[in-house]
Amino acid sequence: MRILGIESSCDECAAAVVEDGRRVLSNVVATQIESHAVFNGVVPEIASRLHVEWIQDVVSRALADAGTGMSEIDGVAVTIKPGLAGSLLVGLSFAKALAWALDLPLVGVNHILAHLYSPQLYETIPYPFIGLIVSGGHTLICRADGFDDISVMGTTIDDAVGEAFDKVAKHYGLGYPGGLAIDRLARNGDARSCRFPSPNLYKGEHRYDVSYSGLKTAAIRQLEQFWDPAWPRTDENIAASFEKAAIDLLLSRLAKAVEDTGIRTVVAGGGVAANTYLRRRLSEKKDVRAIFPPLELCGDNGAMVAGLGCRMLERGDRDGLDLNVSPRVPSFRRLQT
Ligand code: KG4
Ligand code: ZN
Repeated sequence: MRILGIESSCDECAAAVVEDGRRVLSNVVATQIESHAVFNGVVPEIASRLHVEWIQDVVSRALADAGTGMSEIDGVAVTIKPGLAGSLLVGLSFAKALAWALDLPLVGVNHILAHLYSPQLYETIPYPFIGLIVSGGHTLICRADGFDDISVMGTTIDDAVGEAFDKVAKHYGLGYPGGLAIDRLARNGDARSCRFPSPNLYKGEHRYDVSYSGLKTAAIRQLEQFWDPAWPRTDENIAASFEKAAIDLLLSRLAKAVEDTGIRTVVAGGGVAANTYLRRRLSEKKDVRAIFPPLELCGDNGAMVAGLGCRMLERGDRDGLDLNVSPRVPSFRRLQT
């Protein structure tokens, strides 16, 4: 089954062709980073306008790169939630038009689940596993029992982890997007220069939750308080200290999730899954099998949408032309402990 996947939920205009939910035949990502960089954040109106201008070329290139025509496509998958309403609508309208014109099955895909599917484009990962979905909008630790069957164990009670990276980078003018800028600077910094406090551990059913608003405030407003004066106040040192605090928090919650469930496979997805320190530290853990998507599939892309869409179409899922977008973050059930 050859599926065209379309992704336009935020600032990447992306399309890909994937065969049997596994073989990535093409993956085209047109990023709008430059257009939003001057504003230090994604401007929704600009994002949807650029999707309108680019989507046809992006889809055409994905088909050309895959060496396939639309007549060889068996179905169209498109991100419908969550994301920016105007941006999502561009992808959905384009997908609907294609599906209608060529009489192809259409399926709407959840962006969060698609991130978790990314590593599954390359290998069969047996369920259950612990999922870590970390991006600019989401921070989820979950138990995954199927491609769309997840139970949330922990989430952020305030900011998403990627959002914290972005805000700290913005404050210190480290670069845009912030996560990548901090990752690069941190490689030449020393995390011992500033020891941020870690948030109080939440007990009971919230023991896997994380919080980033305190760390963000500490990094932006209270640096003096936590800085070790023996170290120079460089961007590199700020980046390394913040990165360590932000990622160590995730690692501590993951360690608990692994210990409590006895599930030793951890599968990561989302933009922050590209973080060098996270990848290294999780891969070093002896009692865990850590699986990451390749770097180019950590951020938003069409291949993850086509892959997950393929699984859904195989199961018989079909959406009609009345399909709509849903900008809000969907609520998943919580794991009963
Ligand atoms: O998955 P994604 O492309 O979009 C959303 O669904 O949000 O994730 C974007 C987020 C941004 O917050 C960006 O700063 C962060 O991922 N990010 C990183 C890295 N690369 C991107 N954060 C930490 N380290 C990185 N290398
Ligand atoms: Zn994303």
